[in-house]
Amino acid sequence: MLELQGVTKKFGGLVAVNNVDLSVGEGEILGLVGPNGAGKTTLLNVISGIYRPDTGSIRYQGQDISRLSMNALCKKGIAKTFQHTHSFPGLTARESVMIGSLFGNGHRVTRDEASREAEHLLGRVGFPAERVDLLLSNLNVIELRRTQLARALASRPRILLLDELMTGLNPQEGSEAVSLIKSLRDDGITIVLIEHVMRVILGVSDRVVVLDHGEKIADATPDEIVRDQRVIDSYLGERYAC
Ligand SMILES: Nc1ncnc2c1ncn2[C@@H]1O[C@H](COP(=O)(O)OP(=O)(O)OP(=O)(O)O)[C@@H](O)[C@H]1O
Ligand SMILES: [Mg+2]
Repeated sequence: MLELQGVTKKFGGLVAVNNVDLSVGEGEILGLVGPNGAGKTTLLNVISGIYRPDTGSIRYQGQDISRLSMNALCKKGIAKTFQHTHSFPGLTARESVMIGSLFGNGHRVTRDEASREAEHLLGRVGFPAERVDLLLSNLNVIELRRTQLARALASRPRILLLDELMTGLNPQEGSEAVSLIKSLRDDGITIVLIEHVMRVILGVSDRVVVLDHGEKIADATPDEIVRDQRVIDSYLGERYAC
């Protein structure tokens, strides 16, 4: 479904993503991990059109998308949530999700339909029903992340890129989020997720890719990843042993 070849993204002299090859199959859940600053967010930003790669190609359903804008990619069914939840503080949660329905992946809905869809999707991602008409500026960070996910879903994505969606969740909320991600995949959505909580990544991913200093150092099943010495040395270390 998605195929990256030799993708590099630099910021000045800093090579944030270095010659990365990556493929994601339709219906797959791909976990992306690595130390802070490894280039995970940058890689998703390149896929979703926020940045253009300096070199390399990105193909989506057979088409080269490496020069398309984020807007064009959204209309093709590529949606992303953001690690840092910055959005329109003057909108309510409902309105923010309605934007996804009204301007997302090319389907036509009325305002009323978009409003009902927003309420339904916010419920699906665990957003409290009594808070859907509060301004985003009054929401906590977890509610903002849930709103972002609902907005991404409202755009009817075929592939969903999730950047640390579960940070700050307690263990119970974390398991609910894992079930939600699996149910989204069962609905036919392909998922790439960045997450630091290894229990979550290993539990939800079909395959895990590890980045370190911008380079891909491993690409394997969860079982293989936890036994990979290079991954243990650069990232897992004590983390998984605990
Ligand atoms: N817009 C930018 N301008 C300059 N440097 C950037 C920019 N975005 C990221 N970087 C740098 O690129 C490198 C990779 O950053 P990135 O945010 O992709 O890492 P990450 O793996 O997502 O880390 P984290 O786990 O902390 O979120 C870092 O050194 C970061 O400082
Ligand atoms: Mg990041």
